[in-house]
Amino acid sequence: MVRSAPTSDHSRDTIAGAYSSPPWWYDIRGLFILTFAYRSTLGRQVRLFGRNIGAYHLEVAIGSGSLLDIILRWRRWKGLPRVQIVGFDYAEPMLVGARQRFSGKPDMALLHADVSSLDFADASFDSANIANAMHCFSDLDGALAEVVRVLKPGGTLAANVLLYPRGPRLLRRIAEQINQWGMRKGILYTPYHHAEIREKLIASGLAIVAEEVCGNAYNVVLRKPPEPV
Ligand SMILES: C[S@@+](CC[C@H](N)C(=O)[O-])C[C@H]1O[C@@H](n2cnc3c(N)ncnc32)[C@H](O)[C@@H]1O
Repeated sequence: MVRSAPTSDHSRDTIAGAYSSPPWWYDIRGLFILTFAYRSTLGRQVRLFGRNIGAYHLEVAIGSGSLLDIILRWRRWKGLPRVQIVGFDYAEPMLVGARQRFSGKPDMALLHADVSSLDFADASFDSANIANAMHCFSDLDGALAEVVRVLKPGGTLAANVLLYPRGPRLLRRIAEQINQWGMRKGILYTPYHHAEIREKLIASGLAIVAEEVCGNAYNVVLRKPPEPV
């Protein structure tokens, strides 16, 4: 088993409190983090998550909803079908932003919830996305158990996970500084080693459908095994 370096000791309430900035500031900060800590692009995220939205979809840790909004526009542009979405987050200020953004949209429900304790029936959703958030969860095993529980057999999960910085020294140093700041602030629980997070995902009962390491991010699509016939 691969073990990571010590993580931040923030509880999920500290983490939720760290997301108390106004949603517009969160969006600008997010783009900076995406470029220099993940070393990824918005386009890559839109394609990863936009393709994994089934008829009844769960958006885990939706944040202010700005990424999902872009993804839904991309889906409309691609002519992909409209879907029913339930989105939730633990940080109320983020939900306020999402509620404003998606107000009046009958196919979108927004809830306050902790990913480790979900109030949905087993096997509810066709798909789930965890965008930019798995490494924010203080109880990742509990979170994965809940997401797997509420997915239908055969349902899919897409996620991107922040890895410990890799690559050229200068870029690595910049990403390390951003991560340390994020952990102090409480917006990051821990980055992961690639082998470690892969092992955890498989241990949760999901099978890997597609995966790539890109920059400092592990992008992965997984499937809950179908029910035996
Ligand atoms: C970096 S943001 C990502 C938000 C959004 N998915 C995006 O890509 O823009 C991480 C989100 O995870 C949420 N979060 C952290 N711990 C959580 C928990 N235990 N349950 C639900 N949401 C949580 C935070 O409140 C925050 O909105």
